[in-house]
Amino acid sequence: MEETHKLIYELAKPFLNTRKNDIHIEISLGYAYKLLEKEAGDDNIVIPAVILHDLGWWKVPVNLHLKAFGPQFDWELRRKHEVEGVKMAREILEKVDYDASKMEEILLIIDGHDSRLEAISPNDRIVKDADKLFRFSPRGFEIDYQRFGIERNKYLKWLSECVDEWFFTLTAKLFAREALQVLR
Ligand SMILES: [Fe+2]
Ligand SMILES: [Fe+2]
Repeated sequence: MEETHKLIYELAKPFLNTRKNDIHIEISLGYAYKLLEKEAGDDNIVIPAVILHDLGWWKVPVNLHLKAFGPQFDWELRRKHEVEGVKMAREILEKVDYDASKMEEILLIIDGHDSRLEAISPNDRIVKDADKLFRFSPRGFEIDYQRFGIERNKYLKWLSECVDEWFFTLTAKLFAREALQVLR
């Protein structure tokens, strides 16, 4: 990992210790690197955006988390984690004196990472895909169906129906379908 990205990750870590976001970010980062091997994107935008995208959960009370994401979620709560996340990400990026134009794209990506259904750039496509691929990883899948209280096979079926709708890049669709084979 590039030095500045490492520093950003270190500064973000204290705030990732909620909602199993430490695990989420580690797994989504792994997918981001794999996607960047196949899809055109700027790692200086994609990697910090993935690291910082869910920081805002830190500002959402833990007892409300399950109302804010998952198959049935509250729009306003979900929006809150994006808005708060932008503020927290800006602080960290300013602290490491990050390139201003790259920072603006990173913050735009974070601002709509869940609520905006279209991607604003090739980088955004990769961030959105890496974020969602977590759900298809063995660890992410296990965490999610348990925390949503959904029966395993029912959740697996729902996920497999979401692949075409959720993913922007062909590579991510491929990774998701491969991951589903492992889960089945
Ligand atoms: Fe999120
Ligand atoms: Fe996320």
